[in-house]
Amino acid sequence: MMARDQGIFSIDNPWPKIGWGMAVGVLVVAAVLGFGVLGRYQQNDSNLDLWNAICRGLGVTSDNGPEAETQPALHTTTRIAWTRGTLDQVAAGKREHGAFIALNCSACHGQGGVSTSTLIPTLAGMDAAVVYKQLDDYRSGKRLWGVMGAMAKALSPQDSADVAAYFADQLDGLPEIGSNRLPESGRSLREADPARRLVYAGDPQRGIPPCSACHGPGGYKIGAPALQGQQAAYIERQLASFAQGMRENDIFEQMRVIAKQLTPDEMRAVAAFYGGRAPKAESMAVR
Ligand code: HEC
Ligand code: HEC
Repeated sequence: MMARDQGIFSIDNPWPKIGWGMAVGVLVVAAVLGFGVLGRYQQNDSNLDLWNAICRGLGVTSDNGPEAETQPALHTTTRIAWTRGTLDQVAAGKREHGAFIALNCSACHGQGGVSTSTLIPTLAGMDAAVVYKQLDDYRSGKRLWGVMGAMAKALSPQDSADVAAYFADQLDGLPEIGSNRLPESGRSLREADPARRLVYAGDPQRGIPPCSACHGPGGYKIGAPALQGQQAAYIERQLASFAQGMRENDIFEQMRVIAKQLTPDEMRAVAAFYGGRAPKAESMAVR
């Protein structure tokens, strides 16, 4: 009995009140600091007013910026992907009908697709998948060149496959892709001729793979046209277009990334190396 009237059990012991008071005080200071002071400062933005700071602190946000902001237009490089469906469509091309359509092309691309003008590509011998893809890119506006856009718009996908099959079969143009062996010589990075070095060995320091790995001779990547026998001026022009981003229909930016690394002199040298009126497969393979 006596003990209850004394010490910490005494009725007028002030400590419980003081304890509660301090707890409430800490809570108030925490709330003011947390919601009113610290909550107002934004790392990458201007400070919030008190009301917004409290709302944010509680997790209630009126911040719907991203939804309301206009988004940049989605840019896709091409409509073509090398799926089974696309390859089946290409394979379904009918040569006879293609020959009929090709009557509209020879004025520019030459008889049988063998071009005689420097800035117009030879189509003879070009892989059918390449012709098909480029026509679709012109049609959809993914690759821009006035007259070709109009020509391609006049063709259905089936027409494109047909004319692609026709040109792929023509001779005296580009060599059949993947048909040539890689020459033994020239694969070394010590090759003195810069064009040969780029074509057969690339430049690892600049992240440039050898052109021949995709364009031949010896290598083949679907969608990459053979370049041997192509018009040199056309090759050079396309490299410059890729480098400047004027042509941007290459899947995964493969060619843009490479072309940006090339100097104008290298573009010219590589174009001269590959280009030429007649296929140079033999002379390139044996040296
Ligand atoms: C008025 C001239 C002209 C006519 C007609 C024409 N082309 Fe072209 N074509 C060009 C030119 C020029 C280019 C290169 C344009 C560029 O630099 O993008 C080209 C490019 C192409 C390419 C891209 C080849 C590559 O190496 O990437 C294809 C495929 C093609 N034409 C197919 C055709 C077909 C098929 C026809 C007929 C239905 C046709 N063209 C009619 C002038 C013409
Ligand atoms: C990883 C594969 C790859 C490598 C390596 C590569 N290319 Fe290409 N290149 C392509 C593909 C794929 C295309 C077709 C792009 C498209 O769909 O329009 C292309 C297109 C081109 C064209 C346009 C041809 C035409 O008929 O329109 C030129 C010119 C060209 N490449 C030159 C080069 C040169 C020169 C090198 C070496 C310095 C090189 N490429 C290395 C894959 C490659």
